[in-house]
Amino acid sequence: MPTREGKLGVGVAGVGWCASQHITAFQKNPHTEVTWLVGRDAARTRANLVRYTLSVPDARITTRYEDLLDAPDVDIMVITTPNHLHAEQAVAAARAGRHIVLEKPTGLNEEELIRIRDAVRTAGVRTIVSFELRYNPYLKFVKWLQESGWLGEIRFARTQYLSRVTDWYSGWEWVRTRESGRSHLLAAGCHAVDALRWCAGREAVEASAIQTQFTAGYEWPTSILVNLRLEGRALGHVTSSTDFMLPYTFMVELMGDRATVRHDFIQTLDGALDVAALADANPFADVRLEAATDAGGRPGVRIFCPMPDSADVSHHPFQAEIDELVACILAGRETSISVFDAQKTMEVCLAADRSAEQGGAPVGLPLIKD
Ligand SMILES: NC(=O)c1ccc[n+]([C@@H]2O[C@H](COP(=O)([O-])OP(=O)(O)OC[C@H]3O[C@@H](n4cnc5c(N)ncnc54)[C@H](OP(=O)(O)O)[C@@H]3O)[C@@H](O)[C@H]2O)c1
Repeated sequence: MPTREGKLGVGVAGVGWCASQHITAFQKNPHTEVTWLVGRDAARTRANLVRYTLSVPDARITTRYEDLLDAPDVDIMVITTPNHLHAEQAVAAARAGRHIVLEKPTGLNEEELIRIRDAVRTAGVRTIVSFELRYNPYLKFVKWLQESGWLGEIRFARTQYLSRVTDWYSGWEWVRTRESGRSHLLAAGCHAVDALRWCAGREAVEASAIQTQFTAGYEWPTSILVNLRLEGRALGHVTSSTDFMLPYTFMVELMGDRATVRHDFIQTLDGALDVAALADANPFADVRLEAATDAGGRPGVRIFCPMPDSADVSHHPFQAEIDELVACILAGRETSISVFDAQKTMEVCLAADRSAEQGGAPVGLPLIKD
């Protein structure tokens, strides 16, 4: 049911920090128009538009989520509300036949994940989940290195997400709670879990974790270390924390039986990496490779490209996420980060949280049988 000028209508629930990026991305997509906004208070919704320098003069503002489910000019629902509202709103949107942009975490427990999966499966709508770092040039390049065999068979994968989130954050009052934020991995570190899964191309079959808390104000532990058994005898590790006194850090390491990529440096045991051949094969125009040496003078290849090095959502590649969803809706095909795929990331997070709560005992994966 296209809207005026044949465009797909977009309704946004939860007009805050993250929604500002989705709204901007939909405004830049030639096939979509933002038609509705939902907030709990219309004046605050308008104030948030000003705060995030957005202009959406033709969008209607409502305080009732249900209005969007009934509106004929809403084809896509954007769910950017606090975490405890995602599942209920996603299920309702799917049942109303809306395509969905769903913010992470998709569901806060297995029951919510199953409800989302079943509602989307039954409705046959398109979904995309905001693990948007997958569109970052560095992550795309690292995944390509792995998939095209430059690293060989993956033996170990490690990701790190260190982001100091305190009361500067617009969502501080809800994110710090058990009810809505729920856990460090669910609220934030799921990006690192997703990056490990996606870049390594291996699913986790077991998770064990330990956790601790330093940062005051949170109702949940603020640092977690997750060990993973991956398919094919490989191991994985995720460090995720909001406790550290250093700039935002998002790191990826993949170690294969041919070569290793550690953050922005690729090395082999014998230094015999063919830089020219690698540069020739590199399919990404925004990734540059140069022969270089490490601090010990040993040879390798340095990666130059936009890195995932900012917590600010305005630096995150939401445009590519939104463009992919719209292209998939128009072409009638599945997205690369559907709720079905994202569910696997969420299951690893839930398994790790369960292990940490049980003192580190391993938890088998998947949690949900199909
Ligand atoms: N993918 C990413 O990189 C990324 C980055 C940041 C955030 N996120 C996700 O996006 C979602 C929103 O986060 P955000 O940073 O945009 O938070 P935010 O700035 O607090 O925005 C959330 C909005 O939801 C509305 N809301 C509705 N019900 C609410 C309730 N019960 N309590 C509080 N607010 C409520 C609020 O507007 P009203 O008060 O007007 O109703 C608020 O502006 C979260 O799920 C978060 O995990 C994802």
